[in-house]
Amino acid sequence: MISMIWAMDEDHLIGKDDKIPWHIKEDLLYYKSKTAGQDVLMGDVTYFSLKGYYKNRPLPYKTIYLATLDKNLKIEDENVVIIYDIDEFLKNVDFDLFVVGGRTIYRLAYKYADRLFISLIKGHHEGNVYFPITDFSDFGLISENETELVKYQIFERVK
Ligand SMILES: NC(=O)c1ccc[n+]([C@@H]2O[C@H](COP(=O)([O-])OP(=O)(O)OC[C@H]3O[C@@H](n4cnc5c(N)ncnc54)[C@H](OP(=O)(O)O)[C@@H]3O)[C@@H](O)[C@H]2O)c1
Repeated sequence: MISMIWAMDEDHLIGKDDKIPWHIKEDLLYYKSKTAGQDVLMGDVTYFSLKGYYKNRPLPYKTIYLATLDKNLKIEDENVVIIYDIDEFLKNVDFDLFVVGGRTIYRLAYKYADRLFISLIKGHHEGNVYFPITDFSDFGLISENETELVKYQIFERVK
């Protein structure tokens, strides 16, 4: 099963340069509850941004499949597997995988996703990176929970 998980606000904003535009602890905890210890796919911009947050602490995933087109990129971490061809990789995934961003990787992975975990952050924020897809009609809502700050939705592919 391939799942995508992201947080976006009412304008579909997901980033401010290479960072998340808000700091909402309950959403971070939700994100962690879904992805900690899981196999994840991310782009190199997101990877280096997360490394900035975690500094010397290890990132909380099982294996990180790191997408890049840079053949010179070397990461000295046995939990990181570099992926040059996302289509080839996603076509052959036979285990549970979370796609965790960023914008480019969401766009490339969307057609392979079975489930979407969306945190709809209430309000409008400052930033410059938007979620690349606006039409979610291939998916049906299977769960929704709302707090004062966030609406947590899970969608499953219907076509
Ligand atoms: N709100 C959220 O939930 C959330 C989650 C994650 C990220 N984000 C935001 O998303 C933004 C980052 O998105 P981004 O698009 O700049 O970066 P990204 O998706 O993290 O990484 C993009 C990189 O992927 C590589 N790539 C591109 N096409 C590829 C392909 N066909 N196969 C393999 N690798 C490929 C390229 O690496 P090379 O340039 O090295 O070739 C490209 O620079 C930030 O603002 C971040 O905060 C938000």
